[in-house]
This record gives sequence, C-alpha cells and structure tokens, in this order.
Amino acid sequence: MSFSSSPVVSLRDVTIYQDVQTVLSNVNFDVEKGEFVYLVGRTGSGKSSLLKTLYADLPLQTGNAAVAEFQLGKLRRKQVPFLRRKLGIIFQDFQLLFDRTVAENLAFVLKATGWSDKSKRKQRISEVLMRVGLDAAANKMPHQLSGGEQQRVVVARALLNEPVILFADEPTGNLDPAVADGIMKLFQEINNHGTAVLMATHNYEIIQRYPQRVLKCENGRVLDSKVEEFNLVNGYQ
Ligand SMILES: Nc1ncnc2c1ncn2[C@@H]1O[C@H](COP(=O)(O)OP(=O)(O)OP(=O)(O)O)[C@@H](O)[C@H]1O
Ligand SMILES: [Mg+2]
Repeated sequence: MSFSSSPVVSLRDVTIYQDVQTVLSNVNFDVEKGEFVYLVGRTGSGKSSLLKTLYADLPLQTGNAAVAEFQLGKLRRKQVPFLRRKLGIIFQDFQLLFDRTVAENLAFVLKATGWSDKSKRKQRISEVLMRVGLDAAANKMPHQLSGGEQQRVVVARALLNEPVILFADEPTGNLDPAVADGIMKLFQEINNHGTAVLMATHNYEIIQRYPQRVLKCENGRVLDSKVEEFNLVNGYQ
C-alpha cells in the first residue's frame, strides 16, 4: 500500500499553548498534499503559535498531530532537524544573513542540511534562484536587493530541500501591494508544482484575489471554511 495520499498535516484534538496559557483548543484539521490554505484571525488569536507548533518550535502537549509523517507528540529534540528538512518556513522578517552573498546564504542552509558536495550545492542554488526569478542575483549582497527581492531569496531558501509544505507567517506583511502580489504569484506557482502551503495573513485583498480554503483562529478555536461558514471580513486587524 502506498502512503502517498496521507495528509501533510493532520491535527486531532490539539491544544496550542504559550507557556501555561491556552491559545487554541480542540483543533482538528488536515492539510492534504498540494493544498493551499490561508490562516487568518485577529492579532493575538494564535496563528503564529499554531504554525510554531507545526514546525516543532513549540512542543505538542495535548492531542495528536502529524506533519510530513512525523508524529509531533513523540518527536525527540534530535529529530527536529529531520522534520524541518521536509518543511519550508518563511517569516515576515526575512532573516537573511547580511554579511554574505545570496548564494552564500543558500549554501549555508545546504551545508547545514547535509549537502556535502560543492558542485551539487551550486547546481541546487542556481535551480532555486531560477525558480524565484533571481538567477542573476547569486553574487549580490542582500542589501543590494529590494525588499521584494530579498523575500524571493527567502522563498528560494525555503525551497532548497524540496519541502512537502511551506509554512509562511505573514510573508507579505512588510511589502507594498505590487510586490506582495508578486510573492503571491510565486507561491501559487510553487503550489501548482505540488508543494502544499499554509500561510498566515492579515491581507484580505490577497485572499479575495487568490481564493483558497481558509482556517480562522477565533475565540480560542480554529474554524475551517471547508467545514463551516464564517465571517471572513472580520478578523484582519
Ligand atoms: N513567546 C511568547 N510567550 C508567551 N506568550 C506568547 C508568546 N508569543 C505569543 N504569545 C501569546 O499567545 C497568544 C497568541 O499569539 P500569536 O503570536 O500566536 O498570535 P497571532 O495570531 O500570530 O498574532 P499576530 O497577527 O499579531 O501575529 C497571544 O495572547 C500572545 O500574547
Ligand atoms: Mg503572528
């Protein structure tokens, strides 16, 4: 039997905590392979906490959760890098290393994830830069790039290990509308190639322009547009 149809993310009766505070409870949803899902909700409603739990930055204490076929409840610290290698993680603040070139930023991640062959690293770096439309930028320093271009490098970095899912936490938050739209088009393209995307956003216009399933954090619960109707407009502040 093949396991290829199992969801990339599967949560059952999960509680999300920050220290002793319960942020979200009774969380139940799956994200299928190749699916695109938005995560919305007011500031402080738990979007980042949920994403952090999914990439094992916050421990899973209650309920069952599987991400990329790793059971989060049983995950040992030593296994976290192996889980992360299957994920692409993108934050609002870019977190590029500003003391080295674009190619060196990407090489740093490849070395840290076991790519010991220099020519293979070089090949992979040029592939991902091509993918995000920045093939000419390999030898530039991050400060020589615009904010939108820097974010494209971050997306390229997230794609290095061919993730099964991208977790993106407000990836367009600091970008002007035209640049944000370019990043969204890139996400759509990545998604069309089979990578699932779970993206936290406050940007209602983007959701209108690129409609997809929506998960909404509200009053300590996660609502799912696949399961129930809810007010989409309210909850972007
Ligand atoms: N590091 C932390 N330590 C303790 N509590 C935290 C921490 N980070 C967030 N919280 C709390 O957890 C709750 C959920 O915060 P979270 O950052 O997940 O919200 P969010 O939906 O991502 O908000 P935003 O839209 O502003 O990014 C809030 O009450 C917040 O104060
Ligand atoms: Mg957040």
